[in-house]
Amino acid sequence: MCGIIGYCGKKLAAPILFEALKCLEYRGYDSAGMATLYDGQLLVEKDAGKIDEVNQKHNLEALPGNMAIGHTRWATHGGATQANAHPHMDCHSRLAVVHNGIIENYQTLRHELIKRGHHFNSETDTEVIPHLLEEEMQNGCALEQAVLTVAPKLKESYAFLALSLDDPGKIVGTRKNNPLLAGIDGDNNYVSSDALAFSKHTRRLITLGHTEVVVLSSDRVEFLDAEGNKLVKQAIELDESWADNGKNGYPTFMLKEIMEEPEVINKTVQQDERKFTEMALDILRARQVIIAACGTSRYAALVGRYLFSKIGRKFCDVVMASEFSYFADSVDKNTLVIAVSQSGETADVVEGAKTAKAAGAEIMSIVNRPNSTLADLSHQVICLKCGPEVSVAATKAFISQLAIFYLLSFSMVNSFSKAANQLGDMCSRVSKTLNCNNGRLYELSHQLKDRSDFYYIARGINFAIASEGALKLKEISYIHAEGMPAGELKHGTLALIEQGTPVVVICPADYTYDETLNNAIEAKSRGAYIIAVSDRESEIYDYWIKIPRVDEIIYPMVAVIPLQLLAYHMAISRGCDPDKPRNLAKSVTVK
Ligand code: M6R
Repeated sequence: MCGIIGYCGKKLAAPILFEALKCLEYRGYDSAGMATLYDGQLLVEKDAGKIDEVNQKHNLEALPGNMAIGHTRWATHGGATQANAHPHMDCHSRLAVVHNGIIENYQTLRHELIKRGHHFNSETDTEVIPHLLEEEMQNGCALEQAVLTVAPKLKESYAFLALSLDDPGKIVGTRKNNPLLAGIDGDNNYVSSDALAFSKHTRRLITLGHTEVVVLSSDRVEFLDAEGNKLVKQAIELDESWADNGKNGYPTFMLKEIMEEPEVINKTVQQDERKFTEMALDILRARQVIIAACGTSRYAALVGRYLFSKIGRKFCDVVMASEFSYFADSVDKNTLVIAVSQSGETADVVEGAKTAKAAGAEIMSIVNRPNSTLADLSHQVICLKCGPEVSVAATKAFISQLAIFYLLSFSMVNSFSKAANQLGDMCSRVSKTLNCNNGRLYELSHQLKDRSDFYYIARGINFAIASEGALKLKEISYIHAEGMPAGELKHGTLALIEQGTPVVVICPADYTYDETLNNAIEAKSRGAYIIAVSDRESEIYDYWIKIPRVDEIIYPMVAVIPLQLLAYHMAISRGCDPDKPRNLAKSVTVK
């Protein structure tokens, strides 16, 4: 779960890479580094820490040269230390490699290399790559030939870039099970794990297929298949929203992305009605429908499940993607799997979709990244169109995912336009919810910031919102939080309620209101401090977060917004960085 970037062109490479690495930091931020080729030398700087910290220490930005590779790391093999930071080099420091993925057979390869006299400087799996390349280069191979020979020896997931003093003037990269894209711009070419890293410079990109190789030089980009045959590949143009990857004046990406939500709904509903109607028919026809997703995407799927049932009268199951393979026995050609993932790179979701596809299932994916691994392997792809989401905490993508589930469910009853219009009308209410609550939730966060446990309860379609609210809080403010169906509280968790324990009750004035309120009263009589998210007042609330009155099935969309804001303000008031929570990364590309 790292980010890699390479640049070859007429400009100074280091400042471009430095900016690119900051865009990739969401993929990991425990160490960073760069390697450039300049004046017959291979210059490498790297260290533990976030990119700005490493830059302050080693002046990454000032490295000379027009060609460089860079890396931002989320540690898997070996701790966050300078030695384990990328780039990694061969024994003679003549070539450097940056890598995203896990080389599962690295121990065997490492033992063999040590027996053949190689010296290792790190505990990483990655370091076997430069040593293997070194052996090929010593045989007089061109760098691309060395990469073509070494790549098949590596199991199971990699996207890596290499540059070498012995074959200068090019960067060579390849991938398997991890993304790699080339950005094409005449005399300035890029290659990265994510187009976001170069979308400021070019939106023309080409995605590498599995085991394909890219050879990047300043004036051309060539592609080879695994046998070394030249490939002709077409570039695609990214939507212009991908060029906007700054904070636009907001202090954090998370706040920016929350504030974009009204506009995001408008963008998301711009979908092809005919395509949605056909996909809805596929869902209705499938003998079994399974939605696979992780984290926030899974909570969106749980809302989707209610919508499918309520509107389309179609029962489906939602499976945590990390558990999906344990259900694979019952997947067959009559199964439709809907894989939901903002990034389209989450390893558990990608693996689940692959397993299901191999068993004959139809794969429909809902992604924000049309060039992602998941989109690539799916039979049908729905794009969220919400633009880049940089903050590790998912917010606007969740709103988009909900909008897609509304569109799909209404399409099941031939009412796509009705849903699109209804959602369009929601933009102003979502705006109002944001504006009315932002300041108040800031104040509430200061009142509650030292509480150690929060419980979130709701029923029916709103239950997933309770879970999502709890996930947001724990992920960015490091406070223990649990979300659960309100009716479950008295089956155990009620024992944890003490005087003042915050219980967030999502109780809009819908079919769940009365029963949820009863559960809130049960908690309150044990001392809970009741924070209600509702459009209906009640004297039992200790604190009332007002949401607008909307159609019953639309409540999840307005109820989640104050919970995102609450988590955000709690994180800020506790001095936590909501964009880069500890131990986490945006794209979880390892299982
Ligand atoms: O890219 P994905 O939607 O597949 O990511 C899934 C989860 O890793 C993600 O939603 C995670 O739970 C978020 N950080 C939550 O805010």
